[in-house]
Amino acid sequence: MASHQFICFLAMISLMIINISANKACHPDDLKGLNDFKAGIHSDTSSRLSKWIGQDCCNWPGISCNSTTNRVVKIYLPGHYVSGDDESPNFVSSTMSGSISPSISLLTSLQVIDLNKLVGLTGQIPESIGVLKNLKELNLQTNQISSTIPESLFTLTSLTTLNLENNHLIGEISENIGNLQALQKLFLSNNSFTGKIPVSITKIYSISTIHLETNQLVGEIQLPLSPAQWPLIKTLALDNNKLTGVIPDSIGYLTTLSSLSISNNQLTGPIPSCLGNIKQLQILKVNNNNFSVEMLPTSICGLTELSVLYVAQNKIHGPLPGCLSSFKYLLDVDIPFKRTVTLPMGVHKQ
Ligand SMILES: *[C@@H]1O[C@H](CO)[C@@H](O)[C@H](O)[C@H]1NC(C)=O
Ligand SMILES: *[C@@H]1O[C@H](CO)[C@@H](O)[C@H](O)[C@H]1NC(C)=O
Ligand SMILES: *[C@@H]1O[C@H](CO)[C@@H](O)[C@H](O)[C@H]1NC(C)=O
Repeated sequence: MASHQFICFLAMISLMIINISANKACHPDDLKGLNDFKAGIHSDTSSRLSKWIGQDCCNWPGISCNSTTNRVVKIYLPGHYVSGDDESPNFVSSTMSGSISPSISLLTSLQVIDLNKLVGLTGQIPESIGVLKNLKELNLQTNQISSTIPESLFTLTSLTTLNLENNHLIGEISENIGNLQALQKLFLSNNSFTGKIPVSITKIYSISTIHLETNQLVGEIQLPLSPAQWPLIKTLALDNNKLTGVIPDSIGYLTTLSSLSISNNQLTGPIPSCLGNIKQLQILKVNNNNFSVEMLPTSICGLTELSVLYVAQNKIHGPLPGCLSSFKYLLDVDIPFKRTVTLPMGVHKQ
């Protein structure tokens, strides 16, 4: 082969290679955003980030792209995950340490950020997160993040799931949370949030799950003032705070509720008899408050789906209504209680 032919041949090959790698390169903003994210993590026991090399970030572990736009839509790097295929799944339990780079905001098509149970994420939720207008799910649970929630997060009106539980978050929960009109699941439990429960939370019509337990929240329980406001509510968990005041009668509007826990607060007054409206209630925990009634209201006899009932450490002295002894599913009661129906095998009363 003549030398000029050989050079031609080499040039052709290298053009082809450039072409292939250009096709495979992801968007430069996504690439920079992910490389900066990687630089912010100084330890990764799973070694997933060590495979983040080259330009083809859509094929990196934990990254998904939209096949039309080739933009990154998902970062999925939980601490516990399954690797390998369906036939030989490998259950991995790993940790990452470091903090979330503000460059995350370069990944403008992101819909999901899931960094749950990495245990070692510290620092802040970057203020720049407010740029990610397509974000539907933000899961940073079980880490060591210690900032406030940036106000910009409450402009992410596509969010359906916000899970920040088990961190060291501080500050008040902003009234702007009411702007999250697509939110279905809110997990803020086990942090150091202070101040009151924002009233605007009652205006999030799409909400089904509210976990605010184990914080330092004060003031009164906020509930919708009309029956149509939380039409999908299933779980309301406010236990282990410093809440005061009474349970509003509007609790009776929450007819779709299956779990209500308000234990370990400083609530007073009676247990409202309109609780009896919540026919689907399975879990009711009101123990360790300052409720002043002698007896539970007899309307509780309508709650035939109850399986867990905690009422101890209040001023409730009277016996439980007799009807409870015939509840089929009632398995876990925190005060002496005698059942008259036969328990299924293997079920023990506490
Ligand atoms: C990918 O992006 C295009 C253009 O934005 C959009 O129409 C399409 O629904 C997206 N595909 C998926 C699977 O999200
Ligand atoms: C609360 O969160 C911390 C991490 O911040 C975690 O270590 C602890 O186990 C959590 N507690 C519960 C009850 O989940
Ligand atoms: C409980 O109520 C009594 C009065 O009924 C009051 O003296 C006491 O301070 C209250 N305790 C709490 C923790 O709110």
